[in-house]
Amino acid sequence: MIRIKSPEEIEKIRAACRIVRDTLGFVGSKIKAGMTTKEVDALVYKYITSCGAYPSSLGYEGFPASACISVNDVVVHGIPSDDVILVDGDIVSVDVTAEKDGYNGDAARTFTIGNVSEEKKRLVKVTEECFFKALEGLRAGTPLYDIGYAVQTHAEANGYGVVRALTGHGIGRDMHEDPSVPNFGKKGTGIRLKAGMTICIEPMINLGTWKVWQDAADGWTVRTMDGLPSAHYENTVLVTRDGAEILTL
Ligand code: MF3
Ligand code: CO
Ligand code: CO
Repeated sequence: MIRIKSPEEIEKIRAACRIVRDTLGFVGSKIKAGMTTKEVDALVYKYITSCGAYPSSLGYEGFPASACISVNDVVVHGIPSDDVILVDGDIVSVDVTAEKDGYNGDAARTFTIGNVSEEKKRLVKVTEECFFKALEGLRAGTPLYDIGYAVQTHAEANGYGVVRALTGHGIGRDMHEDPSVPNFGKKGTGIRLKAGMTICIEPMINLGTWKVWQDAADGWTVRTMDGLPSAHYENTVLVTRDGAEILTL
């Protein structure tokens, strides 16, 4: 069931999204080579709780941290660890969800650490572009899979693989609500978006194959099958009558 949000609910989602945006800005200003991903997670916890919000990922289906921190070939759901030390040349996706007054906001950025190869820089840039391609023309009435079509077309035109196993999603009272928002699909198909829907659009784009595997040892970490790097870019978006508003930017 897709929930249409009331103006009052939208204000609460907006507030949660501002906290997520500011948390990622804060993390971006601090993250550097030599830090562990656990230290980055601690920054996220501290910032979100200082805003009177809760890091929704913490305890979500047993997830043990406040952010998903995914380095290089880790696509998403990386568990912050004392053993993962960021080094020059890494790309690191930090995915943050905050709950404030019962409503959630969710966004992710892929940060570059020090001197990153041109190949990785381009992957990060194109992944962001995929999000903005999906947003072009998005408004009430847009077929849902036009989003995935736009992401897939841009990623594949650049020779990249589009992750299929994970998708974007609706968001509100719950971090994950209907509908599922895939990063691939056929133009003109799927339900029509309506004003008042809040969705997370989150391209997960691989330098090589689209195929991924999930680490059975921790039950979370998703990696590329070929070990090549992956990037992630996510925002929470409000669909309106004549457009779409990015709430986490
Ligand atoms: N924020 C992630 C998303 O974009 C979900 C994280 S769930 C967790 O959907 F449990 F892994 F944290
Ligand atoms: Co997220
Ligand atoms: Co999400």
